[in-house]
Formats: sequence, C-alpha cells, structure tokens
Amino acid sequence: MEASLNPVQLLQWYMDIGVDEAIGEELIDRTRIVEKPPVISATILPITQVSPPPAPIIGTIEALGEAKVLAAAAKTVEELKAALEGFQGLSLKRTATQIVFADGAPTARVMLVGEVPGADEDRIGRPFAGASGQLLDKMLAAIGLSRENNVYITNVINWRPPGNRTPSEAELALSLPFVQRHIELVNPAVLVYVGGVATKALLQSSQSVMRLRGKWMDYSSEGLQQPIPSLAMFNPTYLIGSPAQKGLAWADLLMLKAKLQELGVL
Ligand code: URA
Repeated sequence: MEASLNPVQLLQWYMDIGVDEAIGEELIDRTRIVEKPPVISATILPITQVSPPPAPIIGTIEALGEAKVLAAAAKTVEELKAALEGFQGLSLKRTATQIVFADGAPTARVMLVGEVPGADEDRIGRPFAGASGQLLDKMLAAIGLSRENNVYITNVINWRPPGNRTPSEAELALSLPFVQRHIELVNPAVLVYVGGVATKALLQSSQSVMRLRGKWMDYSSEGLQQPIPSLAMFNPTYLIGSPAQKGLAWADLLMLKAKLQELGVL
C-alpha cells in the first residue's frame, strides 16, 4: 500500500499509526566531533571513523542498590527530585526531554500515582498534562478534588519511555524506590493508584486493576509509621478508549469521596 503513497502521505501515515518521533533508545550527540585517524598513505588505507564507545551503563543490580540508597537519603520532596535527576541508572533519562516529577502541593491529603509520562507530559513537565489529564481533572472535580487545592499527583516512572513504549520490568524496579520514598515523604491520608502499572508496582501484585479496584487496601512501606488506605482506579487513558468502563470509574470515585468524608478530608 505504501508504494503508491507520495512522501507527504507516507509521513501522514506514519503519524496516524503513532510513529511521530525519530528517536532511539540512546541519545545521539550529533554535536560531537569525530576525529578521523591520520591518513598514512594516500593510496592504500581505507578511511574509517573511530567512534568512542557509548558511556557505560551501570548494571541493573548495582543501579538498584544506588536507587535505594539515594531515595532513602532524601528527607524532602525537593531532595528526592534532585536525587532522581542525578540518578544515572535509568537510561530513560537520556531520551526524555525533562523529568516529570509531580503536580499539586505535597501537603495535599490525597495522593495519586499514575503510570508513565507521555508526549504531552514530557513536553510540559507535569504528570497528566494531555487529554487523559483533562479527563482526570474532570473526574476529580466531580467529587470536589483538584490539583490546585487538595490533590498531589506523580507517576511510578518520571521519564517518558521513547515512543511511549511500555516500561520494562527493570525500569519499573529501578523507579520503585523513588516512588515509594515519594509516598513516604508526602504521607497522604489516602493513596490512589491510577491504572494497572501503578497498582501492580506499588502493591507488588500480579493481579489486574479490574480485579483490584472497588476495595480499600492497606499500602505499607518501611518508612511509613502506619499503612495508608489505598484504592485502585482505571487510568483515564484507558477510559478514553473504553468509555463503557466509566460507570465503574464513577463508582470508584464515589468510594474515594466517601472515604475522604469519613476521614474529614472533604
Ligand atoms: N499521563 C501521565 O502522566 N500518567 C499516566 O499514567 C497517564 C497519562
């Protein structure tokens, strides 16, 4: 089919199927000056370019140890952000435009943890900045919540995976110490997992969000004095593609509202 497309149509076709960026897993420094070896003989030797080897990436086990140490040492949300920015163990950092750390006030009593930043979040630097963010804001507003007033939002992973691919198990494992510490530092009254990736990662469960939603579950970690009541919800990105699930999402929002009223947060 593509053979009959002109270049403009071909580009449009790429965009329609989601190929909207020409990037790879590793950053290419196109400003780097590649030194050519001296020409020894004008006639015989082929001219080859010598590229220095890519910067070494530390092994996952080593990086995991470093992630745990860095996250545990953070005593404030600002220190945690700085620690994440300095962490070299996650290669996503090299392809993302910027860190997508959090939105809202860290003093908020309700904390939402989403999955991964997409293109809009990567560009703007805030979680849930695109269409799914608009839906999320509407859902929150329906029960009296907003980022401006009483909700703090982050993601399990703070850097956009190239081309919006699904994060790997290793990337999730390396991000976990930071998001766990993030929750400890905010210490909200209620924690909400937005989507399956966040639910599974933070509850260390293999069950789907469909199975885990609709009930209150205790969230615990080493640095928390007491467990936090937590609730799993569908990600708005999923709801945009599966509007039939909005009824269940509304039921979850009502559960959240009732709990916040019970705790005196709303
Ligand atoms: N945008 C985010 O920042 N997180 C999600 O989970 C989905 C969209």
